[in-house]
Amino acid sequence: MCPVLGESVDNIEPLWENAYHLFSPSTEANMRIALLGGTGDIGEGLALRWAADTDHELLIGSRDPEKARDAAEEYEAELKAHGHERTIKGFANEMAADRADVVVLAVPPYYVGDTVEAVAEKLDSETILVTPAVGMKGDEDGMHYHPPSAGSVTELVAARAPDDVPVVGAFHNLAAGALADLSNEIDLDTLLVGDDSDAKATVRQLADEISGLRPLDVGPLANAAEIESVTPLVINIAKYNKDLHDVGAKWV
Ligand SMILES: NC(=O)c1ccc[n+]([C@@H]2O[C@H](COP(=O)([O-])OP(=O)(O)OC[C@H]3O[C@@H](n4cnc5c(N)ncnc54)[C@H](OP(=O)(O)O)[C@@H]3O)[C@@H](O)[C@H]2O)c1
Repeated sequence: MCPVLGESVDNIEPLWENAYHLFSPSTEANMRIALLGGTGDIGEGLALRWAADTDHELLIGSRDPEKARDAAEEYEAELKAHGHERTIKGFANEMAADRADVVVLAVPPYYVGDTVEAVAEKLDSETILVTPAVGMKGDEDGMHYHPPSAGSVTELVAARAPDDVPVVGAFHNLAAGALADLSNEIDLDTLLVGDDSDAKATVRQLADEISGLRPLDVGPLANAAEIESVTPLVINIAKYNKDLHDVGAKWV
């Protein structure tokens, strides 16, 4: 029983959910971005960069809301240490997706399909689904591109998402460590694919707002495999060149 609300603790999350709808809606200038699996590496990196460089609202999603709240607190502390006073909230993935304008699937590639289906009811044509996921297999030589039968993980996400939800592939080739270290000044490109030009323009804008990151349009979702296949390449560059780590690419 919660001493303040006089409610069973189990009911507190739904109450908080209702309270959340009293918050002002996001505006085009100030979007609400949910990072599902935002407790992990790329989720942390993107959350920290967006929180440091923009005013967009960040929601950390997790299968475990407690874990999401703990991660959000850690990110707030990291941001504060770098001079940024930001509030980041943590929720179960479904709740984070329900509230967001942009939903980033920051989960391992084998779970993106199930994660999309877990939150599908919370998505609509106004929600942009972003996937950075890449299918890879590693052996003693290095990492190798290993796409699913859909052709790419990005196209798999589009196939599993509700028909009216626009999907954009982005951030595949960025090293999470390079983003998460806020003292590291980045100068990198990120490659974008998508069939919905408005959705792609929005994600392009969000990428561009990260200081030192340049978004480049690589066309429709059908070109996703070419982008995804760069990820094992940059990992192998890091593996065989000991002075390089958290490698990324700049296209000139
Ligand atoms: N790491 C990078 O440098 C990098 C760079 C570019 C792209 N990517 C891509 O980004 C995605 C995430 O990579 P990552 O390195 O951040 O992954 P990660 O740290 O291994 O995992 C991210 C989160 O995924 C969630 N997760 C784990 N197992 C799950 C399952 N069975 N079902 C649903 N969610 C699950 C976990 O969150 P909860 O336990 O809190 O739910 C975890 O914190 C991958 O698809 C990867 O290809 C990664």
